[in-house]
Amino acid sequence: MTRRRVAILISGRGSNMVSLIEAASQPDFPAEIALVLSNRPDAAGLERAEAAGIATAIVDHKAHPTREDFERAMDAELASHDIAFICLAGFMRVLTDGFVERWAGRMVNIHPSLLPLYRGTRTHRRALEDGVLVHGCTVHFVVPELDAGPIIAQAVVPVVPDDTEESLAARVIVQEHKLYPHALRMICDGTAWLENGRVVFSKGWNASGSLHSPTSA
Ligand code: GRF
Repeated sequence: MTRRRVAILISGRGSNMVSLIEAASQPDFPAEIALVLSNRPDAAGLERAEAAGIATAIVDHKAHPTREDFERAMDAELASHDIAFICLAGFMRVLTDGFVERWAGRMVNIHPSLLPLYRGTRTHRRALEDGVLVHGCTVHFVVPELDAGPIIAQAVVPVVPDDTEESLAARVIVQEHKLYPHALRMICDGTAWLENGRVVFSKGWNASGSLHSPTSA
């Protein structure tokens, strides 16, 4: 088995990063986390990556006059670690079309909503305001338009009476930590791939059954 060399790009606490590092520590996982790169020197995730023995790099966007300069510096780090694939995990910089196109089909993101609902920020608050009864998270390939890329995997959670932004976020993040490793495995072992702007899956699945919310319904 060839393990693909993956970089995780973070800006913050890095809890999804930890879930990917833990999954990739299993010998049968088809990817190895070869680099954690942060655009913020104070990202808490950096210490967690170092503690796990993963190479880390800081490319501070404030130290670069333009987005292109910043991304050139990131590309240099990625090349020096021979990175084949990028996972964005709470990476809070908008990427230029040029960078996204260089990594087309080789860069994925996790987003805390059931896309295409709630692109952008404050997803949990907006879901509560709309009164939806199901919410969740999505892993998708990255395209130039924000949070608009082809969908690889989604997880659904119920929205329950008296949910707050915090309680809903807590329910969703538990699923994010399961979904991201699952999606990365599918891409790296050849179960899912990008073709003509859509995700293709190599295996069928049994689509019987349905999901309900609230769960007691
Ligand atoms: C997650 O909710 C993820 O979906 C979003 O940013 C958050 C990052 O959290 N893109 P963490 O740094 O992985 O804990």
